[in-house]
Parts: sequence; structure tokens; C-alpha cells
Amino acid sequence: MRVCMIGVGYVGLVTGACFAEIGHEVICVDTDPDKIRQLVAGETPFYEVGLKDMLKANREAGRISFTTEIADAVKQNCAFYFIAVGTPAHLEDGGADVSNVYRAAEATAVAIKESGDLDRSFPVFVVKSTVPVGTSREIGRIVGRHLGPDQFAVASNPEFLRQGCAIADFMGPDRLVAGSRSERARTLLEELYRPLTRQGRRLVLTTTVETAELIKYAANAFLATKITFINELGRLCEKLGADVEELSLGIGLDKRIGDQFLSTGPGYGGSCFPKDTLALIKTANDLHSPVEIVETVVRVNNRHKHFMFNKIRDALGGSVADKKVAVLGLAFKANTDDVRDSPALTIVPVLQREGAHVAAYDPIAAANAKAVLGSEGIVYADSLKEAIAGADAAVILTEWEEFRKLDWGALASVMARPLVIDLRNLYSLGQASAMGVEYVSLGRNPVGSGDGNDGGAGR
Ligand SMILES: NC(=O)c1ccc[n+]([C@@H]2O[C@H](COP(=O)([O-])OP(=O)(O)OC[C@H]3O[C@@H](n4cnc5c(N)ncnc54)[C@H](O)[C@@H]3O)[C@@H](O)[C@H]2O)c1
Repeated sequence: MRVCMIGVGYVGLVTGACFAEIGHEVICVDTDPDKIRQLVAGETPFYEVGLKDMLKANREAGRISFTTEIADAVKQNCAFYFIAVGTPAHLEDGGADVSNVYRAAEATAVAIKESGDLDRSFPVFVVKSTVPVGTSREIGRIVGRHLGPDQFAVASNPEFLRQGCAIADFMGPDRLVAGSRSERARTLLEELYRPLTRQGRRLVLTTTVETAELIKYAANAFLATKITFINELGRLCEKLGADVEELSLGIGLDKRIGDQFLSTGPGYGGSCFPKDTLALIKTANDLHSPVEIVETVVRVNNRHKHFMFNKIRDALGGSVADKKVAVLGLAFKANTDDVRDSPALTIVPVLQREGAHVAAYDPIAAANAKAVLGSEGIVYADSLKEAIAGADAAVILTEWEEFRKLDWGALASVMARPLVIDLRNLYSLGQASAMGVEYVSLGRNPVGSGDGNDGGAGR
């Protein structure tokens, strides 16, 4: 089938490449000429595991192409126009800014109308971007100003892929979700995804776009809640002399709870959870049906990032002033160069404000972090060893694989104080006690710190 992908960011480019990989013909459109120039030249504008090779193979097979002009895609008479443009949070109220989604839909409808080729096809406008409930219906109205009601359909097909393993997620999703009032569109979507459903993947087809739209927000709000729950319980574990890893195992083995997203960390971030929780709150409040659990999650997650600073400060004896702090990891999670709403973007400025000298290292996200954090009062090291040289503490913020396998015994010699503050719990307490450094982690009490009846001596 012919697919047009509008917006080639993390979602659009991965999805476009994967549609080509499963045999469809894909044309990608983006208004950013630099991005398109890079793609046409065979470069990949951001890092995602396996994406570069997949794009190369499909470009060579003639299944994927790139343009800045929607008219080029319309000429190919696509069956689907996927809209995967960004929907950032409005600064004032946290609501999602869907202006680019509407702009893309309108430009496409106009181009289809101008092509004068209305009888030949029945284009389905598929909203891939995460958009507030009601957006797809509004797209129907916008497109309806240019095309007749029988000449197109609108569908919602939210995306659940995770950056860092986005291709694997596309190829083997837990489920696919699509919704449309149009039966013809639902049938076309079934056909589009048949290569995946044939392998046993479940397509949840809803007859209302609103349900499909809400599934996306509900899923992200639930996951954000789960992360925040375990983060809060982790802090309680420290006070009680309990162990958050054992707690996670103990509750996660209950199938009703599930063991995923129960790892404590420095707070959720990234391009989705922060903005999607805010957008859901805004939608709910607008409709006088508040989602108070989600409101609390947002508040607790923000506070949690500040607790992380407190943890660093306390480990350094109550003040970070004039201390050299090596921050290991700037990306919001491993295997991505994305720093959007990364915990590092909250924690590093607080460290700086309180007088710490920050040296940061990330295997691939330093350039993106620099664009946000600037370079005043922060050194971006080219290697982990350079970052920790002379440091009073090394703070692990991202769960990069390379941070799991370090020989801290050897590295300790280059630090001013061999103190590792592991905000991802990458090491077991057994490993930590053999590392030859002072080790601080989350929700666990160092071996020998008491049996829990002493009020909890662990950090
Ligand atoms: N990043 C994720 O992991 C993820 C996962 C699921 C869903 N989503 C959702 O998918 C959507 C896209 O996210 P992203 O991270 O890929 O965004 P992004 O910012 O990385 O990319 C968006 C792209 O859209 C382009 N664009 C903007 N307006 C356009 C227009 N009118 N016409 C053509 N191109 C246009 C931009 O130039 C950019 O290349 C968002 O709604 C996001 O919430 C993201």
C-alpha cells in the first residue's frame, strides 16, 4: 500500500521506515528542509537503534523517499496520509499544541483537491501524533472544507513505541490501536497492519476515534503513575530499612500488577510522559472531570527530581558548593540522544545554582543537552574518565549499558572522593560493596547499615 508519512521526527521516521520494511511504499514529508536534505543524502537526523541500516536498505530497494512537498506525495495517490508531527505542551496551561497537526491536515487536503484526482482514491487521514481527544474529529471538519464527505476518512492510530527500542516495538508491539467511524478506513487499516497481525499481533480497532485517542493518554498516564508510585515507595523504603528492588519483585510477580515499570529512578522524563500527563489534565479540567490521580503524579514526579538533588547534597555532606560533580548520563533514558524533559535538565541547573562545578558525560546526548543547558559552568566531557577526574562524586542519571560495567576500583583513583551516587540502581548492593567506593543508591540500605529496626540508616 502507498503511505505518506507527514513529519519525520522520532515517531514518523521510525514508523515510515518500518512500514517500508514490511513491504509498503512510503513517502515521507517534512517542512524542515535540513532534515529532508540529510535524509535524501542518506544521513539519519537522530540516533535510534537499527534505524540507519533499515533506512539504507529500504531506500536502496526504492520503498522509501523524502520530500518537503506534500504535492509530491499526493501525486503518488497514497492510501494513507499519516500525521506524525510534534504536539508540544503549551507553556501556559500544559495543553497540547496541535496547530502543526491541523496545518498538515489542511495542506494535504488542499493538495489533494488541487490534484483534481478525487474519484480515484479514498485517502485516509491517520493521526499518529499524540493529540487531545477531539482533535481527529476537528481534522474531519478541516479536511471536509476541501473534500466531500465520501471522498476521505479520518482515523486515529496512536503510537506506543519507546525510543531506544522503537523498531523492535513497531515490529513486535503488545498491541496496535486504531479507531475510525468509517468502516472502509478500518478495513484499510487492517490491511495495512496485516504483516504484523499475521504474526499474532493484536489490532484493537475502535469504532470511535475518541476512544483510540484516549487510550494513548490513559496508557501513558498509567505508566507515569506506576513509575512515580515506585519512586515514592523507594523513598519510604530508605526510611524503613526496606529494599525497593525486593519490594518491586514482591509486588510485580502479581500478574494483576505486572513487573514492568517498577524500577526506581530519578523521575520520569522524555518527550511523552511529561507532556501527555499535562495534556490529559488539561482536557479533563476543561470538561470539569478532573483526573486527580494524574495531577498528583505530575506533582510528585517534579518533587522527586528535587529529592534527587537533596540526595546528592546529603551524600556530599550537606552542601554541593565548590564540589565537582560528574553527571553520568544526560539523555532521559538509555539508547537515545533525546534529552527532552530529561531529569538531567532539572538536576544539573539546581547543582549549578547551589555552587557545584558540573562535568557531564553522555555517550551520545551531550550535543542535544548542550543546546538546552548551555555551556556556562558546565564541562561536557568526551569520556567518562574525563568527567570523573578530580570529582567529589559521580552521579549516574541515565541507565546506559556502559555505566553498568565499570571498574570502579580502578576509576576511584582519578576521583577526589570515590563516591558513586547511583540514581538508576545499576549495581546490586553485593556488587557495590566490592567496588571499593562509597556507594549511594535509591530505596536500598547498604549491607550492614542495620536491620531496619534502627529507623533506617541507609541512604
Ligand atoms: N517520541 C516518542 O517516543 C513518541 C512516542 C509515541 C508518540 N509520540 C507522539 O508522536 C508525535 C511526534 O513526536 P516526535 O517525538 O516524533 O516529534 P519530533 O519533534 O521529533 O518530530 C516532529 C517532526 O514534525 C515536523 N513537522 C512539524 N510540523 C509539520 C508540518 N506541518 N508538516 C510536516 N512536518 C512537520 C518537524 O519538522 C519534525 O521533524 C508527538 O505527538 C508525540 O507525542 C512520540
